[in-house]
Order: sequence, then structure tokens, then C-alpha cells
Amino acid sequence: MQRPVDDLHGRLEAAQAQGGEAAKERQRKQGKLTARERLDLLLDPGTFSEIGLFVETRSSDFGMAERRIPGDGVVTGSGLVGGQLVFTVSQDFGTLGGSLGEMHAAKIVKTQELAMKAGAPMVQILDSGGARIQEGVLSLHGYAQIFQRNTMASGVIPQISVILGPCAGGAVYSPAITDFVFMVEGLSKMFITGPDVIKAVTGEEVTFEELGGAAVHSGTSGNAHFVATDERECFATVRKLLSFLPANNLDDPPLAEQSDWPPDENPALDEIVPTGANQPYDVRDLIQNIFDYGDFLEVQPAFAANIVTGFARLAGRPVGVVGNQPAYLAGVLDINSSDKLARFVRFCDAFNLPIVNFVDVPGYLPGVQQEYGGVIRHGAKVLFAYSEATVPKVAIIVRKSYGGAYIAMSGFGLGYDRVMAYPTAEIAVMGPDGAANIIFRREIEAASDPEATRKEKIEEYREKFATPYTAAGQGLVDAVIDPKLTRPELIRALEMTSRKRETRPEKKHGNIPL
Ligand code: HXC
Repeated sequence: MQRPVDDLHGRLEAAQAQGGEAAKERQRKQGKLTARERLDLLLDPGTFSEIGLFVETRSSDFGMAERRIPGDGVVTGSGLVGGQLVFTVSQDFGTLGGSLGEMHAAKIVKTQELAMKAGAPMVQILDSGGARIQEGVLSLHGYAQIFQRNTMASGVIPQISVILGPCAGGAVYSPAITDFVFMVEGLSKMFITGPDVIKAVTGEEVTFEELGGAAVHSGTSGNAHFVATDERECFATVRKLLSFLPANNLDDPPLAEQSDWPPDENPALDEIVPTGANQPYDVRDLIQNIFDYGDFLEVQPAFAANIVTGFARLAGRPVGVVGNQPAYLAGVLDINSSDKLARFVRFCDAFNLPIVNFVDVPGYLPGVQQEYGGVIRHGAKVLFAYSEATVPKVAIIVRKSYGGAYIAMSGFGLGYDRVMAYPTAEIAVMGPDGAANIIFRREIEAASDPEATRKEKIEEYREKFATPYTAAGQGLVDAVIDPKLTRPELIRALEMTSRKRETRPEKKHGNIPL
């Protein structure tokens, strides 16, 4: 008679083989790793504890009785990333297309609940055709439960979604509720309905890649936050992202060792911002010359590039960094950059990451399409997100800080804790040209040489407002600083605010303009 322990090993081997060689081969043919190989890339070696390996579907409809697969198409459990506990699920497209039925969903829900109880991040690796058609409403019910738990976990534990195959229907809505979505070029697709359905309904012809590939979601729709060239790079970036984050909303972000670069006084910072008010430069050059080791993990680099968002460390302490990007659309705020910025600020606020803004913004983008598209509503999200945030908020006005964008990015009225300015800062209701044309219109029109008068008036306005000293004199800028010394100034600003306590009135929740 077979010893029970040998029986166990036989069962374990069979179950861990998932759909067997055929299923693995199917993944490989598509250039994809298997669900378990992916967990090996995500987790520290030898740290995975599996949950529910022997769980199977209870369905027998539409041939499901013959298609029972141990684990029901998803590997779930916990492990360590850089020594920190995370919970994870990894769908196996090789078995039933990674589709989500009743028991598959139950395994994910259980993992979500364990992550919440433990206060540990959740990483979901998705490779799924969506709701398992054979299991009908039970599949839909499964997704509903997952969405509800995603929502309950939002702002409590970091939630990361890694899309590694064609993900349809429910398989994309759960990621959309989570904090960060990763995709891999050529492998990942996200869509609600595929090309065939679209053709039938609207007549439009589109390929899977054009519809929902990594380039589309990272650059056009803004659904994805990180794109990698392969799965290995993708998981390395997931691990790096987690290194900036606390395990949950009650923890502080993890401290790293002190950095020996850049130096406290960094002459490179004198060279980056051009003297001309309208000349472009890349705000990332500033960021990389200020934060520890020049290391900056940019979030959504290809979407709304007029705002730069990402994570860096200052004296070992993780911070959320925001910068208007003069190299793209002059760094204006518009619909997409407002959405990107507001969401980033809310993430930082939820997870105790101080926010540092580099401000160089001419205002909100004028235009009929922007107004029709709801730039008022979208722009209001930025005001709402910064106003609501109670984490330390520090702004450095680098050059322009005009109008509503001044308020959003550097206005003490929104509760900024420290506002500093470079000597090149210009703080005003609008740029000198526009302002002079409005307030001196009559004088300009009546002048014998209107053009000369216009120039004179523009200069007069520039001298009064296009400097940091007027605002500094009114107490609305705390310090005008030498750019070379930005790093120690920022370190002190964060020390000054590190014990900040700020409360908000009790309420069920606010109603951010959506
Ligand atoms: C059951 C599924 C499945 C599904 C794929 N499979 N999707 N089984 N339910 N939803 C199975 C296929 O039958 C096939 O089984 C295997 O997975 C691989 O699928 P292929 O089609 O051969 O692979 P590929 O050509 O790579 O195409 C992948 C795909 C396509 C683009 C994802 O399978 C597809 O369009 N699937 C349906 C997508 C969809 O509409 N899902 C429902 C969304 S509605 P065999 O037997 O060959 O191995 C939804 C509701 C929730 O999710 C909405 C919440 C808001």
C-alpha cells in the first residue's frame, strides 16, 4: 500500500504541474512564463507559501467535469519581497485561459482578505480571458466580490496589478481599482471587449495590440503606470516599487541607508533651469540631481508627460515627487495631467509619503476641447487631492507659478507646509504679457505708440510680480533658496514636517470631482 506521505508527494507534483506540459508549452509558445515561474521572479527565493493548491471547480456544466484542474487556474499565497511580506495571486492562462470561475475567485478573495488582515501589500498577476463563461453568474459574482475587496483595501494596503497576457472584461476592472498597473510590451493586452465584438457593434477594425497593448494603455488611455520590455524587468520594477512603500496605511515607508550622492552643494543645479522664462528643460534633471543616488522611479512616464510623478528618497526616506515638465506642453496642467497628478497625490497621502513639488507651470491649458472635456472638473481633482492630503507637502517654485496652477502646486491656502522658491521664480495671477494686456488695455490703446507702451507695461508688471520677493514679502514664500543647496534645504523641510499632525472633520468620505 502507498504510504500517505508518498501519496501526498504524488498529489503535490501533479497539482503543481497545473495543466501539465501542454499548458506550459502553450505559454512558452506565446513567449510567456508560467504562473509559478512568475512568482519565482516576484518573490525572494524559497519564501512562497501556497494557499489552496488542491482547490478545484465545482462546476460540471459544458464539459467542466472533465476539465477539473488542481488550483482551478490560479496560484495563490504569500511570500517575501526584499524581506517584506506580500500576498499574491498568479493566474495560469494555460488552464482554461486563466478564466475566473467560482473557486478561482474564492481563492483570490481569500488571499485579498488575508492581505488585509496582515496589513501587507497585494500583488496580482493577471493573465485571463475574464469571467469563465461555463460558470455563468457564479463567475460574475466572483468578480463582484473581488472588486469589493479591491475597493475596501484601497488606501489600506498597496495593491499592484501585473498584466501578463490578454486580459478581458473583469480581468481589467480589478486592476483599474488597484493602485498601479504594470504591462509588458508585446505580451500584455487589456480591453473590455475584444476586436471581434467591436467590429460587430461599431464596425471599427482594430488589432489586439492597437486596442489594448502596452503602448496604448501607458500613453493614450493612462490605464497603465509601468511598462517593461520583458517579464524579468517587469518583476524587478514591481520589487523596486514595493521598496518605496509601507506595508499598509498605518506604517511609515521603509527607511533606506543614507546616500553619499548627490553632494549637499551641487553645482549642476545651477545649470539646469534656463535663464529665458520660456525655454524648455527637463525637470527630471533637477530631480536626479537632488534625490538619493539620483534614483527616481517614474510613474506613468508616457502619459500626460507635462506632469512628472514618481518615487525617490531623500536621506533614505521615501517621498513622492511631482514636477511640472517644461519640456512638454510647457508644463501646463490639462485634463490628463490633472487626473494623473491627483491620483498620485492621493496615493502618497494614503501611504504616508511626503510630497515634494517642483513648480514651473504657466497655468491650466486654455482651449475649447479642454473646456468641453471638463478641464474644470478634472483640474478640480488636483485642488481636492492636495487640499485633502495631510502628509507633509513641500513646494519649490522653480520658475513660473501662475494662477490656479500656483494655488494647486504651491499655494499655502491649500495647506502646504513649506514653500520655497528659486531666485528665478515668478509668482502671479498670470504671465506678464497677458496681465499687462488686461489691466493696462486702455492706456495701451490710448498711447501714441501702443507697442512701446505695451512693452513698458509688461516690464512694469514683470518687475512687480514676476519675482519671488513680492510673495516672500507677503509671507507666501518661506524662503528664497540657492538652487545649488536644494538638497539640504529639502532634507531640513522634511525634518521640520516629519512629525506633522493634521486632522480632518469626521465624515463618511469626501466627494472628489470625478
Ligand atoms: C472560459 C475561456 C475564456 C473565458 C478564454 N477561454 N477565455 N474559457 N471563459 N472567458 C479559454 C478558451 O476557450 C481556450 O480554451 C483557452 O481559454 C485559450 O483561449 P484562446 O481563445 O484559444 O486564446 P487566445 O487566442 O490567446 O485568445 C485569448 C482571448 C480570448 C483574447 C482572451 O480567449 C477571448 O476573447 N476570450 C473571451 C474574453 C471575454 O469576452 N471574456 C468575458 C468577459 S466578460 P481551450 O479549451 O482551447 O484551452 C467578464 C464579465 C465581468 O469578464 C465584467 C465585469 C465588469
